[in-house]
Amino acid sequence: MAASIPSVPRPIYQNPAVYVSKAIPKNLSLLSGPGFRNFLIHGSFRNSTRNEALGDCRIHTSDIPLLSCAEAIANLKTYRAIENLKSHGVNNKGNQKFLAMYSSIFGGITTDSAAMVIPIDDHMVHRGHGVFDTAAIVDGHLYELEQHLDRILRSAALAKINLPFDRDSIRSILIQTVSASNCRNGSLRYWLSAGPGDFLLSPSAYLKPALYAVVYQDQSPFDSKGVKVVTTSIPIKHPQFATVKSVNYLPNVLSKVEAEEKGAFAAIWLDDEGFIAEGPNMNLAFVTEEKEFLMPQFDKILSGCTAKRVFTLAQKLVGEGKLHGVRVGNLTVEEGKKASEMMLIGSGVLVRPVLYWDEQVIGNGKEGVVTQALLNLLLEDMKTGPPTVRVPVPY
Ligand SMILES: Cc1ncc(COP(=O)(O)O)c(C=O)c1O
Repeated sequence: MAASIPSVPRPIYQNPAVYVSKAIPKNLSLLSGPGFRNFLIHGSFRNSTRNEALGDCRIHTSDIPLLSCAEAIANLKTYRAIENLKSHGVNNKGNQKFLAMYSSIFGGITTDSAAMVIPIDDHMVHRGHGVFDTAAIVDGHLYELEQHLDRILRSAALAKINLPFDRDSIRSILIQTVSASNCRNGSLRYWLSAGPGDFLLSPSAYLKPALYAVVYQDQSPFDSKGVKVVTTSIPIKHPQFATVKSVNYLPNVLSKVEAEEKGAFAAIWLDDEGFIAEGPNMNLAFVTEEKEFLMPQFDKILSGCTAKRVFTLAQKLVGEGKLHGVRVGNLTVEEGKKASEMMLIGSGVLVRPVLYWDEQVIGNGKEGVVTQALLNLLLEDMKTGPPTVRVPVPY
């Protein structure tokens, strides 16, 4: 006997009376109604214990308010206000303040975090067709802005994303966004996207590419203590994708999660030939027993702006006799684990010592002198470096 088809609830659009009249109770108190409260607590409109008790998975339209644009914005404002309150709490993780956003879609800058949104039909959202970059804001200057700009433009070209503006205009928009934020110390992150327009796969000719930029401040204290890393089991990205700073960070996220599950700070990728590659959002460098500074080459990984700058700064340590040489080259895991110092390098971690890799102690298991010296050189460069790495922001 043929199985009977279970009865399916009618889509709400077939019942406009329910959709309109039940979905928005007249007396709906926007900021205190059960739907909204549960949305804030659970991040979804799941407020019917009755439905769960009955194992009834039908959607009761009356549970979900149908919002006007003004009401949706009011809810976004409340959501952000609650998130801001939470970020002042005890949990420092994700403790970030969003100070300003530029969007080419709304054609301006906002300092209201509730308005810092991007369209759902943007191809960066539903297809991952976007590239991004970050620059640190240090004492009212953008650190390595030109280098990060060069990289995002290179990434956009490799990702076949047309530019919404030329380089000078993008640069000017970024600086103006930082200026509007009034932020003297923080981060600037920006995206070039294939743009909104539809939910298709192809970035068809009529999509308008978009630029978004956000200025934020991380309120957690800077930590330069030595960390543990593990070798990741997540496959490394193919060089064609690893060399582009696109928004496709799923492998990076999974490798970070894997590290955290193993009580480590980061997980390390090896390349297809087994050589040391990079971490999920940082590069790596080593000091050999012969006091040579060695960094994996960038042909199969992201060319790190911080790593390149540290490479230049490391040459000062050769002059001071703390290093015998600096070199970019292939490194085996065995060589890496035998190094007297190992460090993570990136705009997030700056220069951070690695004390353990898997079960292996690196060097003497203490923060090394070269790593410490490089962190100090980088911090000094961020505050007093030459104009090639420090762009002043006019506030
Ligand atoms: C995969 C990957 N490698 C390396 C880096 C370091 O690059 P940078 O020093 O430019 O931040 C990053 C930075 O986000 C990254 O995502």
